[in-house]
Formats: sequence, C-alpha cells, structure tokens
Amino acid sequence: MPTQEAPVKIRVNNLTKRFGDLTVLNGINFTIKKGELLAIVGPTGCGKTTFLNCLSKLMPATEGEILIDGEEANPRKHNISYVFQEPTCLPWRTVRENVAYGMEIKRIPKRECEERANQIMDLVGLSSCADLYPNQVSASMMQRIAVSRAFAVNPDLLLMDEPYGQLDVKLRYYLEDELVNLWRKLGSTVLFVTHNIEEAVYVAERILVLTNKPTSIKAEIIVDLPRPRNLIDPRFVDLRKQVTELIRWW
Ligand SMILES: Nc1ncnc2c1ncn2[C@@H]1O[C@H](COP(=O)(O)OP(=O)(O)O)[C@@H](O)[C@H]1O
Ligand SMILES: [Mg+2]
Repeated sequence: MPTQEAPVKIRVNNLTKRFGDLTVLNGINFTIKKGELLAIVGPTGCGKTTFLNCLSKLMPATEGEILIDGEEANPRKHNISYVFQEPTCLPWRTVRENVAYGMEIKRIPKRECEERANQIMDLVGLSSCADLYPNQVSASMMQRIAVSRAFAVNPDLLLMDEPYGQLDVKLRYYLEDELVNLWRKLGSTVLFVTHNIEEAVYVAERILVLTNKPTSIKAEIIVDLPRPRNLIDPRFVDLRKQVTELIRWW
C-alpha cells in the first residue's frame, strides 16, 4: 500500500473531450500516486469509458495532458493495461496462454512469462484450469483471466472499466477481494472505474466522484479503512453514505 510519501505516478491536467458540440469531459485534473488504487465513480453516460479511452490513448483527448512519471503518456514507451467491461479472452488460447498474452506482446522472455503467469494464476486460483480454453470456463473466470493478464505485464497504470458490473453480487464480492489481493501483492497503480458506490468504498484507497455531463470531479473521498473491509462496519456505512449524498445523480 502506498505511503503518504509515494511519488506521483500519473498526472492528468485539464483533460477535456468533446464529440462535436457535446462536451463529455470538462477539464479534469487529478494525480495518482505510485501503487495507489484509485476509484472513480460516476453515473452511466457521464464519460467514464471515454475517460479511460483517453487515458489509454485509444482515443485522442480534445485538450489537456496525461503524464506518466512526468512524461507525456506514450503507449510505445509506457505500459498501460486495460480491463474492459466485457471480458476479452482469445478463444484459441488456453487460460495460461491468455494470461501470458500481454507479456508476449511486450516481448518478455518466455521463461519469465511462464513464471509470472504461474504466480498470478496461483494468486487468483486459476491454476487448476490453466490448460482449459475460454469456452470451457464461466464468465466470471473469463473476467478473472482478463484481470490476471492485465496485472501480469507489470503495468505503469492499470485501467479497469466496471469489470464486475455484469456479475452477480456474490461473485462480485469474491472478485473484488481477489483484485485487492493482487494489487497488494504486486503493488500496481490502479484506476478502477465503477458506478457502484459500495464497490468503490470496498476496493479503493481514494474515490473521485464525477458530476453529470459536462463531467468534472465533484469531490474526493479518502477511504482510510483497514482491510479486509467489512460492509457492515459503521465506518464503512458512513463513507458509503457520504459518497451517496455527494452524488444525487437521480
Ligand atoms: N465515439 C463517440 N462519438 C460520439 N459520442 C460519444 C462517443 N463515445 C461516447 N460518446 C458519448 O459520450 C458520453 C459518455 O459515454 P461513455 O464514456 O460511454 O459513458 P460511461 O462509460 O460513463 O457510461 C455519452 O453521452 C456517449 O453517448
Ligand atoms: Mg462505460
């Protein structure tokens, strides 16, 4: 877990995105510390996916800059991982080969790929199905594979777009625990986007609350609760209420 003194890893200055006359992102500014797990919550349609697409450079921003370690983010140089809302697995590769895929793209030596894939599959309980194909595992397993693949490349920044939004509650709790576990063991810098307030308070160290469009940051909440977190701890409930009251999207 990062200390107060952890260096700034990601700096976003005045990020603005317009589609024609529609301003979706309106001057967003924030930083993420190295090794931090930051959640962003915002209503459906406020521009969360657009925001991640700009951060990953899949989509050009209209204005503003994104700095990684003080330099303009550059996919050729920086390692930005992205877990999409829909699980994305390559059907012709086994679970193990899917977990290793991102590392192969990064030309990490074969031996190291294998070791790291095994380490991560152990951490998330995928080892027993390492030789199966995606069509032989459940949807939650596929999302677990996608998350494992994203952590495996040791990213400068790991972006997650509502990765558990489609799953039922019990599975979601399970995978949220797994995410926190991976993050703590591997020390990655993670930006987790969700519209689920409880999920944000459960996983994150800090939460940024977005407004409706044109979207900016409305508030920042520090989540200084011990882990593992307890959904019925009065302090947990208080923080969840605090975020809920800030929002009033409805
Ligand atoms: N390529 C695009 N062209 C035009 N409008 C878009 C495009 N992508 C997203 N939008 C609009 O931007 C807004 C934000 O969309 P999105 O980022 O998907 O929101 P969220 O992920 O928060 O639900 C929506 O109003 C959507 O219609
Ligand atoms: Mg979205």
